[in-house]
Amino acid sequence: MKFFVDTADIAEIRDLAATGLLDGVTTNPSLVAKTGRRFTDLVAEICDVVPGPVSAEVAATDFDTMLKEAHLLTRIADNVAVKVPLTPDGLKVCRSLTADGRMVNVTLCFSAAQAILAAKAGATFVSPFVGRLDDIGTDGMELIADIVAIYRQYPAFGTEVLVASVRHPMHVVEAARLGAQVATVPPAVLRQLFRHPLTDSGLDRFLDDWRKTGQTILPGAGDGR
Ligand code: E4P
Repeated sequence: MKFFVDTADIAEIRDLAATGLLDGVTTNPSLVAKTGRRFTDLVAEICDVVPGPVSAEVAATDFDTMLKEAHLLTRIADNVAVKVPLTPDGLKVCRSLTADGRMVNVTLCFSAAQAILAAKAGATFVSPFVGRLDDIGTDGMELIADIVAIYRQYPAFGTEVLVASVRHPMHVVEAARLGAQVATVPPAVLRQLFRHPLTDSGLDRFLDDWRKTGQTILPGAGDGR
């Protein structure tokens, strides 16, 4: 399973990239707005830090302008994945870009029917938003289960399921259980994945007992405190 981080905060991206666990980045206009940075400069910087797909979203809604924006974005770096909304024009742009060998992330997917259309348009990724579905009282993970099951019936669909709008670690675990290829995870949730209270207390106990041995593994080293 691939982990993308869902942020436009370059400091967070650098920090998480250093873990070696980051396969890509997703941004969206709301995340970019929070940074106050110029979008194209920001995308270029992120693409330098993370070699995997970096989603950069178009801002127009009509085919011609979206396509022009997409071409500008793809010129920033080879690892830009153009993000287009799941609309008829968005899918037309998707088809045109993927025919040219570019990566496209079709975003704002809220139904299995939409996910079928994204796959038929040749999307590299489709982004179903699980958290926003949970927010309105439906089960976001049910949509992931449906899309994964449908895509499995059609091996010719090359589209990867990119679970988006992730709110907590169980979204990630459930996405993995269902076989989604990618989860894009906010930095705070990515860090939560490392944590377990028994890991912390277990490590404290091991370190206490190790100190009692009076030994060091590295010659001449202290006890690390
Ligand atoms: C996905 O690409 C979006 O950037 C993101 O996951 C949206 O999540 P939100 O519902 O937390 O805004």
